[in-house]
Amino acid sequence: MSTIVINCKNSLRSEHANRLAKILCCPILDPDLSIKAKQQMFEYELVLDHHGLALWPTNTKLHGAIRCDFSSAANTHRRKHGGGNGQAIAKAIGVSTRFTPRVLDLTAGLGVDGFVLASLGCSVTLIERNKVVHSLLSDGLERARQTASMDTALGTIVGRISLVRQDSSEFLALLSPEERPDIVYIDPMFPERKKSAKVKKEMQAFHSIVGSDDDSSDLLALALGQARYRVVVKRSVSAEWLGDLKPSYSLTGKSTRFDVFALNKLPY
Ligand SMILES: C[S@@+](CC[C@H](N)C(=O)[O-])C[C@H]1O[C@@H](n2cnc3c(N)ncnc32)[C@H](O)[C@@H]1O
Repeated sequence: MSTIVINCKNSLRSEHANRLAKILCCPILDPDLSIKAKQQMFEYELVLDHHGLALWPTNTKLHGAIRCDFSSAANTHRRKHGGGNGQAIAKAIGVSTRFTPRVLDLTAGLGVDGFVLASLGCSVTLIERNKVVHSLLSDGLERARQTASMDTALGTIVGRISLVRQDSSEFLALLSPEERPDIVYIDPMFPERKKSAKVKKEMQAFHSIVGSDDDSSDLLALALGQARYRVVVKRSVSAEWLGDLKPSYSLTGKSTRFDVFALNKLPY
């Protein structure tokens, strides 16, 4: 388990910092602690400042911040020039001009995929169980909502997203028949690649915080009983089928594969 401390750099946000400390069971950084002592005691710090919330290694030479920023250049570029409904994820989910499904994303992470689907018109419920990841995602959504008056397109997109902190198995177990989603999306952590240069250091850090999602086969079994039309599983291109279950078909890209479990014909 990684050791984390909360570093509140904005006095206006001290209440938020206290709430986070309670939820995450982490201490708040003593401002008198030396950098060396901080690095010896903690691996990461959750920095709360006027940019929002970000997870930094206490040794900042290791890698950069992990944060959730829906108005980042990368997210904006993908939103505007990412290929729309022609993207593999959109095809796998079944998005079209006639069908913008209600998607339940059981493995929200930092919401990158969920945001893409919401930007294509889907209403997306994101479920995340890891409290650190959930805090980053919740902060990213909140900041995007606050900028809605200046960026109405972004505001509309995040307006389609809701976020729940819960284990997805529990969430699925409590769904009523009327709440069944059109599509269920699952993107468990890829098995960790050994020190591959291709895996960004931030991604390795994310992995060390979340751990491996060893229960994702069970999640797939539950999802197959709840989705109206499809369950879509994102995998690395060479990964085995999740839970050894053969999908109806796969859409394979350069590094990613979408395994589609088609349960019913899409309604168009
Ligand atoms: C690979 S990341 C997902 C990345 C995400 N698709 C994105 O675009 O940012 C997997 C995430 O799913 C979460 N997760 C895995 N199993 C879960 C479960 N049963 N319930 C809730 N969250 C889960 C992990 O905590 C982790 O944050």
